[in-house]
Amino acid sequence: MATVLDGKAVSERRLELVRDTVDESGLHPRLATVLVGDDPGSALYVRMKHRACERVHIGSINVTLAGDATTAQVAETVQRLNEDPEINGILVQLPLPPGVDQEAVIGAVSPVKDVDGFHPCNLGRLFSGRPRFSPCTPAGIMTLLAEYGIDPTGRHAVVIGRSIDVGRPMAALLLNADATVTVCHSRTRDLAAVTREADLLVAAVGRPRFVTAGMVREGAVVIDVGTNRVDGRLVGDVDFEAVRERAGAITPVPGGVGPMTIATLMENTFAAARRQVCGPAP
Ligand code: GUN
Repeated sequence: MATVLDGKAVSERRLELVRDTVDESGLHPRLATVLVGDDPGSALYVRMKHRACERVHIGSINVTLAGDATTAQVAETVQRLNEDPEINGILVQLPLPPGVDQEAVIGAVSPVKDVDGFHPCNLGRLFSGRPRFSPCTPAGIMTLLAEYGIDPTGRHAVVIGRSIDVGRPMAALLLNADATVTVCHSRTRDLAAVTREADLLVAAVGRPRFVTAGMVREGAVVIDVGTNRVDGRLVGDVDFEAVRERAGAITPVPGGVGPMTIATLMENTFAAARRQVCGPAP
């Protein structure tokens, strides 16, 4: 039976650490979120981020734009926040409505305030092995692995998914941590044959219970990034009950990766504020 990797408990400890670090720093970090439209799921995630800010003594503001806002209007809002010296971190909640050019908006965020780490400049740094801000979900997963003493060095890590917020940066972080990395996606042939070779399997597919026990090697570490709503319940990309019988370690949904994402956002926001006030770390 697998060890359950308790992201909730680890994130609580990390949040306490951020709060103490903020208090001792004398800095007053502030995060701005931008929410476009009225998707209830996105609104809930934004509220959770603001609640986390309060807990760690980081200030926060939210700017809400109507669902029919143009790319130019969203980019102007971002530009105003770029120029506001009181704001250290900017997060544009994704996905944006279909009429808004997501790439243009992400590109409009100042790279030094890009606490999501999605700007091509920050993704490029990450892929070149010199990260500044790493996207919060994969960075949070690396923290969770470290907290449980799971070292990716030399292990075969298989990532299912190639998005810019999870799959691609996850692959880069694991590569930077000396894993041997395979990235799978919807066009991969015989996916199960590849995933069965994984010592460490990260599922970021967006399909409920997609990863079955037959796709997992005995003793593997299985990380579930899925947040699928099924009959009003949150369900991961991994068939948890079956896979936990086979895996060595596994993250639950909820209570695994999700809380680590928010804790990492707080760490990135503090790091952004420190960098803006004190300059880049040597
Ligand atoms: N939507 C789902 N996950 C994320 C995230 O990590 N950042 C942003 N900005 N939007 C998201």
